[in-house]
Formats: sequence, structure tokens, C-alpha cells
Amino acid sequence: MKNLVILISGRGSNMQAIVDAQIPGARIAAVISNRPDAAGLAWAAERGIATAALDHKQYSSREAFDAALAELIDGYAPDLVVLAGFMRILTPGFTAHYEGRMLNIHPSLLPAFPGLHTHQQAINAGCRIAGCTVHFVTAELDHGPIVAQGAVPVYHDDNETTLAARVLEQEHRLYPQAVAQFVAGRLRLDGLRVLVADETPTSARLAVPLD
Ligand code: GRF
Repeated sequence: MKNLVILISGRGSNMQAIVDAQIPGARIAAVISNRPDAAGLAWAAERGIATAALDHKQYSSREAFDAALAELIDGYAPDLVVLAGFMRILTPGFTAHYEGRMLNIHPSLLPAFPGLHTHQQAINAGCRIAGCTVHFVTAELDHGPIVAQGAVPVYHDDNETTLAARVLEQEHRLYPQAVAQFVAGRLRLDGLRVLVADETPTSARLAVPLD
């Protein structure tokens, strides 16, 4: 069994998708939030999953918070740390500690549009395609070896809300698949590239439900 620790900051719909996927060989060891009032914490607790909150506002520096967070996470002996809407910039010491065993999902087709307001940025840039990316976490924000990407069309009358909803559907499909690949030991890092064992050239690394 591989232990997963999932970090959230809010509603936790990606966390829910991963829990609901019941990934073979994976055990959700804990769901942790930096916001005690995160809706996703209650959802996880209702399902008997261990939950914890570590309020970043109680810490005087990013380093101090990240050190306390790492100690809390490591108490659950994680094989994989899953960032699922965890809205914190991470210190290099934290990302180094979990190198090769921490995934993030970002709602853009990286390397385009790291950071916030990705959907508005895609619309403003006139993109015809937007999407989401699952990647290993490195010290650089929203950067790192890409495991999988999902693409959606951008329509001329889209706004941030409509595009976000279309991308989120892909997030919920893609993230459990990527976590399952990690848990099955199918992901290998080769520099900035991720090699997926048994993958055929046309298999589901990129999903493009374009019409
Ligand atoms: C998702 O769009 C995720 O890609 C981004 O923040 C959002 C979190 O949503 N990092 P949820 O908490 O998983 O519902």
C-alpha cells in the first residue's frame, strides 16, 4: 500500500475525485489544510479520513510554516504528497524534501500561465485551447516535470467561470489517473520529462475532447 497525503486549501474537489477513484494500492493517510475552515476537510472527515489543519497565519515565516507542515506530513509516512488546490508558495527546502514524490495540478497548459487567474489569462491571450497540467513539484512555482495534460476548447463567449468549469472536469479525470500511475510505479523522471511505463504513443497522456 502506498500512503497518500493530500494538501488542500478550499473546497477540495480534486481531493474528492482522488478519494472517490479508490485507486488500487493507495491509502489516503490524511488530508491536510492550511485553512482550518476549508470545506474539503469536513468532507474527508465525514468519510473517516484523518484530517489536520495547520493555520499558516500562526507562523512568523514561510520557512517556519513549511517546517511544521513537513513534520505533520511526515507523521503519516507518505509515499506521495498530492497538492490539490493547495494555495501556498512553497519554500525550496520543502520542495527539495519531497522531490520526486510530490504532485500538483495547475489549471493551465503549462508552461503557459503559471500563477493565478489562469483562465482569464488564457481568454485575454486569445487562446483557442486551454486546460490543466499534472506535474511533479520543483522549487519553481507551477513548473516541473509534466505527467499529464488535459485540453479543452475556449469558446468566443467564455468567461473565467465557464472556462474554469470546463477545465475542472478535465482536472477531475486527469488527476486520479496520474496519481494511479505514480502509485503503480509507472512514472520515471528523465530530466524535465516524465516517462510513463507501458504508454503507447496514442494513449491518454493528452486528452483533447475538442469538437
Ligand atoms: C483547481 O482548479 C486547481 O487546479 C487549482 O485550484 C483549484 C482547486 O480546486 N490549483 P479544488 O479545491 O480542487 O476544488
